[in-house]
Amino acid sequence: MNAERRNMQNLRIGVPSKGRLSELAAELLAQGGMGFRRQDRSLFARVKDIPIEITFLRTDDIPVLCAEGAIDMGITGSDIVQENEVDVQIRLKLGVGKCRLAVCVPESSSIQNVADLDGCRIASTFPRVTSAFLRQHNASVHLVKLSGSVEVMVSLGVADAIVDLVETGSTLAANQLRILTEIGQYETVVIQGNGCRFPELADRIIRRLEGVVIARSYSLLEYNIRRELLEQAEKVTPGFNSPTVNALEDPDWCAVRVMVKKKDIIEAMEKLESIGANAILETEIANCRL
Ligand code: PRP
Repeated sequence: MNAERRNMQNLRIGVPSKGRLSELAAELLAQGGMGFRRQDRSLFARVKDIPIEITFLRTDDIPVLCAEGAIDMGITGSDIVQENEVDVQIRLKLGVGKCRLAVCVPESSSIQNVADLDGCRIASTFPRVTSAFLRQHNASVHLVKLSGSVEVMVSLGVADAIVDLVETGSTLAANQLRILTEIGQYETVVIQGNGCRFPELADRIIRRLEGVVIARSYSLLEYNIRRELLEQAEKVTPGFNSPTVNALEDPDWCAVRVMVKKKDIIEAMEKLESIGANAILETEIANCRL
């Protein structure tokens, strides 16, 4: 199949060609029934049974290429979308790759607030977002635009402060830096270009991925409870929409099935047990449509 023919028939999704995000994107698409196999270092892969073609690109280029119409959709970071100031829609937040963009100064620095940055040198790979933020705070700085290794710029004497992504904070600690203030919070997202050639298929892809994202963040909780305690239990587990309640052979008891956020599951189980629920079971959800 030549490139032109491929272009005409398939929705094209740009995914990161390497790194952790590349693996995350491949796993997510596979779980949503859109698995693919990349041969060696090929730039394209075809998804089976659905007209989708995967294009492997640099994560940083995905928003621009989506805005330019080279790809219909893409998986990238919302930080990169904002920095590129491109006109694309963020269709879905994937709940992974969460990080913060922060202004960071040396641990020993006397700088206490953003206004103190006036006249400083600031290094960043996010020049547009940084400039806009500093403008809002009336701080006039000399911006050093870089494409990586920003955290060493203070010790190299290049900058007084940096604006960089912080995930766990270990890079900052290793470089004796502290957060002065946070500019924004970001995560991995699915974007869609305004010129997307197959909007209905794009909606179908989003529904599939949404099912996976929700399934990953929720568990299914089942328990038995006396009917008179049901209202109390439902306050602990209100569910995504509402819990499913089934009768048991003993008319005084009922069985409840409900979705609970994974991060809340242990606390919910403890509370239910203290209310009087029993046979409390947590089950993983592989996929869902709600
Ligand atoms: C990012 C960021 C920081 C680091 C922060 O770099 O630029 O250097 O992660 O993470 P931490 O708070 O968990 O230490 P990344 O590893 O993505 O590589 P990059 O330098 O190519 O951006």
